[in-house]
Amino acid sequence: MTSLLEQAERTLEKAQSDINPRWYPRYHLAARAGWMNDPNGLVWFDGWYHVFYQHHPYSSEWGPMHWGHARSKDLVHWEHLTVALAPEGPADADGCFSGSAVVDGDMLALIYTGHKFHGSPDTDANLYQVQCLATSRDGIHFERHGMVIDTPPGLHHFRDPKVWQEGESWYMVVGSRVEDTGQVRLYSSSDLYKWQDEGIFAEADEGMGYMWECPDFFTLGEKRVLMFSPQGIAAEGYLHRNLFQSGYLLGEWQPGQQFTHDGHFIELDHGHDFYAPQSFLTPDNRRIVIGWLDMWESPMPEKQDGWAGMLSLPRELSLGDDHRVKMKPVDEVTALRGSYFPTPVRCLKNQKVFVASNAEAVEVQLVWDLNTSTAEEFGMALGDGLRIYIDNQTQRLVVERRYPEYLLEGTRSIPLPAGEVLSLRIFIDRSSVEVFVNDGDACLSTRIYPQLGQRDISFFANHGAALFKDAGYWSLNK
Ligand code: FRU
Repeated sequence: MTSLLEQAERTLEKAQSDINPRWYPRYHLAARAGWMNDPNGLVWFDGWYHVFYQHHPYSSEWGPMHWGHARSKDLVHWEHLTVALAPEGPADADGCFSGSAVVDGDMLALIYTGHKFHGSPDTDANLYQVQCLATSRDGIHFERHGMVIDTPPGLHHFRDPKVWQEGESWYMVVGSRVEDTGQVRLYSSSDLYKWQDEGIFAEADEGMGYMWECPDFFTLGEKRVLMFSPQGIAAEGYLHRNLFQSGYLLGEWQPGQQFTHDGHFIELDHGHDFYAPQSFLTPDNRRIVIGWLDMWESPMPEKQDGWAGMLSLPRELSLGDDHRVKMKPVDEVTALRGSYFPTPVRCLKNQKVFVASNAEAVEVQLVWDLNTSTAEEFGMALGDGLRIYIDNQTQRLVVERRYPEYLLEGTRSIPLPAGEVLSLRIFIDRSSVEVFVNDGDACLSTRIYPQLGQRDISFFANHGAALFKDAGYWSLNK
């Protein structure tokens, strides 16, 4: 191990024991201590799922980026491994930024952005971002090969390579900014070392963002999906409410051709906190996505506890008949379930019923009969801070959080899906909630910060009656 990696390990070993666990996830992946952002290098290699992530081991604030590392046999039980990359070369002197992983024969290759300033870091004019390669045979220790793609002339923001193989070639999409236009650029290679510039792959139309981060490109059903995280899209009504978004464009592509798409950017998740998702394929060919369950410039109160940032549950994607991307938790998460506690009540009339106390790690199931539910608002609450409910007047499904002590208040919502039944799977962890709607129709992910005694679950109906076909919860255990 290099001295920077050893130093990171020593720091983390000590910092880990100082963490305040009150909001530290019970079944989601977070760094042992310190800061985490984007998931990186998601890959199945040598019998393990590997997750790397943007990591600052030395504090719970963003800083010179390292690549943290964990692995799992089943996507739900994670084992932390030693930090994989530290910013120590001339190409990545100021940070090992986001990137991806591919398996080339018996070798695991990480392709990531080397972030560096030539001169003072106070101006973008001095910023250079280049694409770098590191390889490993054991999946744990990496040999660094330095830069494989230099910054194109005139660019400064040029980052987050996602590599895939198609036919005989490797392809890479990279996010970039040209003046105030977000772009994705395409490269190709036969060996991962020498890359050929294939030009602009996709570009923002008016209002679609000044920078496109973390592009990913894959096939889903009969479509091609360009997933990315644009910066600079203005909020419009209920849409694009977060500081930055993540979503996708659907289209067609073949090697050597232009990517054609319908120009319709659709957000992938509708909660307060979901960014920089990355996808990978399982050995049985499922397309899985994991995102960062946070948002830039959010207060992230867990910083005071010695850590910051966590990842979403792994989610399986599919293409709906309506040509929208559907997203549901991977089947493996059911392995976390303990016993099921059904709710004895079937109908709520202007009432709130207590369901569970001190719910730290639970999956709540709620199957509402929309036809016969007349209440103005009905849903579930966690303490006084979180409500997930149907607003019958606006016909929307709402996630509302109220943690004014941390300046975290407000709602996110989606139109109520058509149909007589609304089925919700709600995953609660110590500081997160993920609401999956109708087996993949939509998802809302939000960080929550309940105080002691604020974790009781109740179901409620205000001004009228609400009926469920099924309701209850599983406690989740690792
Ligand atoms: C996205 C991002 C990436 C970058 C990384 C830096 O959240 O800004 O574009 O590589 O985070 O940590």
